[in-house]
Amino acid sequence: MEGIIERVRRRTSIPVYRRTLENVLGAIQTSGDVWRIVDLSEEPLPLVVAVIEALHETGYVAFDGSSVVLTESGKKLVEKYGIGTIRDFTCSHCGGKTVELDAFGDLLKEFREITRDRPRPKQEFDQAYVTPETTVARVALMHTRGDLENREVFVLGDDDLTSVALMLSGLPKRIAVLDIDERLVRFIEKTAEEIGYGNIEMFTFDLREPLPEYALHRFDTFITDPPETLEAVRAFIGRGIATLKGPGCAGYFGITRRESSLDKWREIQRVLLNEFGVVITDIIRNFNEYVNWGYEEKTRAWKLLPVKVKPSYNWYKSYMFRIQTLEGSRGFEDKIEAGDELYNDEEASTQ
Ligand SMILES: [Fe+2]
Repeated sequence: MEGIIERVRRRTSIPVYRRTLENVLGAIQTSGDVWRIVDLSEEPLPLVVAVIEALHETGYVAFDGSSVVLTESGKKLVEKYGIGTIRDFTCSHCGGKTVELDAFGDLLKEFREITRDRPRPKQEFDQAYVTPETTVARVALMHTRGDLENREVFVLGDDDLTSVALMLSGLPKRIAVLDIDERLVRFIEKTAEEIGYGNIEMFTFDLREPLPEYALHRFDTFITDPPETLEAVRAFIGRGIATLKGPGCAGYFGITRRESSLDKWREIQRVLLNEFGVVITDIIRNFNEYVNWGYEEKTRAWKLLPVKVKPSYNWYKSYMFRIQTLEGSRGFEDKIEAGDELYNDEEASTQ
């Protein structure tokens, strides 16, 4: 195992542990589909690729068409180290989201209809939107936590159209949305007109810029889905916190395992706790499920994968974080001097 770890280290600077190998080998025993292996192993895609290639070089793994399979010596390896297959006992009723969607059936139906002609994802903005079920589950979750009813809600970046589900729910007192993509801003404005919702404000805005005065310290709840470099997490979530009124407010955002190692998670959590002084109240595994964005073949993931095959199901998921502000919490209000590196680091692969 040490020899394999050494080979992985030569291929990537993402930290690799014995546990990483166990996770990938466990996933390969469950599925030969590379996307499923990334999904199940819960390691960043570039790291999974480095492990698979090291296992291929050493003869433990073979490629059978587009499938990744253990060779005879690979099977002996997992037996020798007692590495079991990865099983999935996620609750089949809620899909692990922890909230009841049945109560929001009408909202889901309306949301589907109204967003049918939504703008498609744009690679330049790192867009990939979540399933309608996910968007509506967000409403259910935020409502369950007391963060929607008669609250003022800020949506920072909204290719998921969470603001549309929020409007349809009729729960918030006021909604503000900002996005860099004018197509989305126009779509949400048009939708607000159609459903006759007046308490929404829209802004076309690049989150690299500091938020304008009128957005600061005005809201009870924010939601965002940041690109996952540490800088982007700081910018998006920090700005979200800066929009909050003070202690007792809440923020929601997704963080994935697909593009962020647990080492990066630790840095993210440090930023949350040490820099922003907020508390993490919830982390719900794979809450956010993303619709395959259609530009897979143009992504770094595609270049990296040892077998080229399109994903056959929604493999990309993120964990939902909820944070709450306390006395002494503070956001991030500075300008960001970052270009492409705001979206991409060694662990990223979907751009
Ligand atoms: Fe459940």
